[in-house]
Amino acid sequence: MSREATQAGEGDCGTDECEVTTGRRTFLRDGLMAVAALTAIAGAAAPLHALAREYATGRAGAAGMVSYGIPAGDGATIDRTNKVILVRYQGMVHAFDLECPHKGTAVQWQPEQNRFYCPKHKSTFKAEGTRIQGKSPRSLDRYAVRIEGGKVVVDTGTVIDAEANAAGWSAAGVRVG
Ligand code: FES
Repeated sequence: MSREATQAGEGDCGTDECEVTTGRRTFLRDGLMAVAALTAIAGAAAPLHALAREYATGRAGAAGMVSYGIPAGDGATIDRTNKVILVRYQGMVHAFDLECPHKGTAVQWQPEQNRFYCPKHKSTFKAEGTRIQGKSPRSLDRYAVRIEGGKVVVDTGTVIDAEANAAGWSAAGVRVG
């Protein structure tokens, strides 16, 4: 079943199940924010300002389809709820798993360098997901994407590993410009 990623609040589900899920998400999000604040206080090198410049929220749930508006320009949107990064770069749109392929740390978008950065072990990746350097054993994992009804539809049910499925990884993108 397709679920739309929207800017809507998290409390609009109207079911007990959603409330439980939302509470857990809120707890995790608050925890991550506290860790980020402590990291900043400690003067860590991680460029916190380089975290995603735009956030889209959606409803967590079983793996499936998530849809987004077609990005108007180059850049990255990070949907932490669904662990999806949507990138438009040089006329192509790709969707990545938010987790670094090395140990699963959430990667950060560095818009000034058009690249992704993993703060855990400092791996870097090009905007289209290709590994540049660092401990990550491979490029960012992609999801299959397609354009449908004027939206980018991301299939989060299948993670495409660049090493295990090089052809599938290369094909996981859509031209939008
Ligand atoms: S978790 Fe990303 S490089 Fe180790």
